[in-house]
Amino acid sequence: MTANDSLARDREIAVGIAREAGRILMAGWETGARPAVDFKSEDINLVTEYDKRSEALIVERLAAAFPDDRVVAEEGTTHGTERAGQRVWYVDPLDGTTNFAHGMPIFSVSLGLTIDRRPVLGVVEAPALGWSFSGTTTGGGSSFNDKPITPSLIDRLARALVVTGFPYMRNPRQNNMAEFAALTAAAQGTRRIGSAALDLCYVACGWLDGYWERYLHAWDLVGGAAIVIGAGGQATDLDGRPFDGLTGRVLATNGRIHGEFIRILEDVARREQSPWP
Ligand code: IPD
Ligand code: CA
Ligand code: CA
Repeated sequence: MTANDSLARDREIAVGIAREAGRILMAGWETGARPAVDFKSEDINLVTEYDKRSEALIVERLAAAFPDDRVVAEEGTTHGTERAGQRVWYVDPLDGTTNFAHGMPIFSVSLGLTIDRRPVLGVVEAPALGWSFSGTTTGGGSSFNDKPITPSLIDRLARALVVTGFPYMRNPRQNNMAEFAALTAAAQGTRRIGSAALDLCYVACGWLDGYWERYLHAWDLVGGAAIVIGAGGQATDLDGRPFDGLTGRVLATNGRIHGEFIRILEDVARREQSPWP
């Protein structure tokens, strides 16, 4: 973190808020008991009381700290009205709810700030793992547990370890399987770990080399995308157009394998009988 970063103070505040929310999640996770789950529109999309409690705290804290900003959170809480050019915080109060509900420690809190729809600040906190990622695109760089991070130097997909996720919406034709098969053939390995926000951070810190996913939301993506960009990596749409969290699509890499990655995704789209809408 550098002193001449205009978002340094905002970052510090957001890290504090995400940590506090992480403690709420830990109060549920540490009991070891499976939390009661409700189902959203799709039968595999879960929500627990901890998603809601974490969200209530985060939105209250962000609204108090940044009264002029808009806040949009996954479970439906919002603050402020929409204005052009405004700062918007996107909040995922618990990313990786399915892992959380099964007692797996791989879940996170994700806060992402956009200005004019561009990701500028991200905080991703994984309390059960003791992992704290944050970053800004305004000169502060990105960090993991307060140490600066950079993406990997891998320059060929054949040497890359990549990660993705699968949409909750069950669709026998458009389901990411063709892309998963193509990337499994082209890369050194593919992973599915269960928290989009953390998937982005793995790319930012060089543990993984690339990540793609679609049918997500801005709250899944903005925080992690800012951390990838702040670390010196690349986050774009799946075809290389500028990243926009509202599309729900992302391709994040170390930058070096970005072009090759896009070509594989384009090949799959050409071959598929039922391309994505
Ligand atoms: C989910 C996770 C998962 C991704 C899903 C997301 P949630 O978020 O990020 O990795 O594949 O599509 O919706 O529901 O746990 O907040
Ligand atoms: Ca999420
Ligand atoms: Ca969530």
